Amino acid sequence: MTNQKEPRAPLDMDAEEFRQAAHKLVDKIADFLAGISERDVHKPNGAKVARDILGAGSLPNSESSTDDVIGEISDLLLEQSLFNGHPRFWGYVNGSASPIGALGDLLASSINANVCTWTVAPVASEIERQAVGWIGDLLNFPNDPNCNSGGLLVSGGTMANITGLLAAKRARFGAEIREQGNNYKGAEKSKFYTTAETHAWLEKALDIMGFGESAITRVATDDNLRMDIDALQKSIQNDIEQGFLPLAVIASAGTVSTGAIDPLNEIAEICRQHKIWFHIDGAYGAVSACVPAVSNELSGIGLADSVAMDAHKWLYVPFEAGCVLLRNRQHLVDSFSHDTTYYPEAGDEDALPVAYRAQGVQTSRGFRALKVWMCLKRAGRDGYAKMIGNNIRQAEKLYQLVGQHPELEAVSHGLSITTFRYHPPEIQDEEILNNLNREILSTLQEEAWAYPSHATVNGKYLIRVCITNFRTTDQDIDDLPDRILSIARNIS
Ligand SMILES: Cc1ncc(COP(=O)(O)O)c(C=O)c1O
Repeated sequence: MTNQKEPRAPLDMDAEEFRQAAHKLVDKIADFLAGISERDVHKPNGAKVARDILGAGSLPNSESSTDDVIGEISDLLLEQSLFNGHPRFWGYVNGSASPIGALGDLLASSINANVCTWTVAPVASEIERQAVGWIGDLLNFPNDPNCNSGGLLVSGGTMANITGLLAAKRARFGAEIREQGNNYKGAEKSKFYTTAETHAWLEKALDIMGFGESAITRVATDDNLRMDIDALQKSIQNDIEQGFLPLAVIASAGTVSTGAIDPLNEIAEICRQHKIWFHIDGAYGAVSACVPAVSNELSGIGLADSVAMDAHKWLYVPFEAGCVLLRNRQHLVDSFSHDTTYYPEAGDEDALPVAYRAQGVQTSRGFRALKVWMCLKRAGRDGYAKMIGNNIRQAEKLYQLVGQHPELEAVSHGLSITTFRYHPPEIQDEEILNNLNREILSTLQEEAWAYPSHATVNGKYLIRVCITNFRTTDQDIDDLPDRILSIARNIS
């Protein structure tokens, strides 16, 4: 018998090669993270450089060495990317990613759990169950200990919200709706109540659910862009009189443009009166329920039937990680479980880990729970209250600072979002102001010292700073108004 070794598969690595390659990469990443504050937020021509380096060639036939592959692509990424972990990245709602989350991704990929059924991922399923429970703890959800609450991790806020609404539909119309579709029991007459400030995930959701955007009843807002409760009552009444079926109210716990929080407790009461599902989009703001200064305003989260939140926003977990929580987790099983001949049963949750494929849209599911769990465990409730509270304080500081400049107009402060614009007293024309502020923001982004984004509120184009970033310092905030004024004076 010969003792010849089988040739190694092209994607296999022996332990020594893996160790060396990984150590080299980890060293590079550690240097990158250590120096992130000294870099520009992005390279304005990064995409062009990437296109040139990547080239237009078709898929190579031959193998490349591990060193070549990692060296080439890590240099490109670490030099040319937009760095949303930079202390002055304040655009959209992008969290700065914690390093422990990155290590979680490496460990999760090494185990490669498919958190689909408990048989193939027993330990990972338990970790997800705990991570989801801990998120509930952070949000004080539910605030009734007798609830059978639960949930699961999903790709992000959009998917978490869609999952919540699908559960609402199933809960309202019963099991037959899954067989009969939206013609069943007049489901096509369903109405969803929300304000114009709600993120565009809702249009996607209603399209996917077969209701279409016409199923939305937009409810008026008050001066602070919060849902007007009287207007909600009237809209529901009006729709009932016209033969529609009010199915869900969708409240925001932190709107995307200004961080407004709808009056959650009052909305919960109206939903209770009319037996309407109460869903909260807390993708951005729900986690701030752990901060004493705002927890009161968010106490209504505990009364919702379903809540969507994003760990990849303000829990500082690397993309992707969202979470949907239900007051009664059975609604998820009722909505998403199907008997098959090829998977084991959904499982008895009290005795076995959870079969997450039977509680959400995805079948095969990655082990995103690990990075979430590791971040939560590392920071704990106090750590999160400190980081999130600090971001809220910084946004308020910016609002105050901007308010002190006669040429700047502070427009709003909600949670960690502040909006404002350049508005010297001699310019009153709204179109000129909009164009001016558009140019100021684009120059600011181009210079790459800081990266806010914009909001349009009541027709005004505003510079919008959203701080979901544990690296932002008070000095970064102090320096921003002067930067903006110097750009503005150069332009005008
Ligand atoms: C309030 C709100 N809801 C939903 C979403 C969508 O979340 P995702 O991008 O994770 O799908 C966002 C994204 O910014 C948001 O701010």
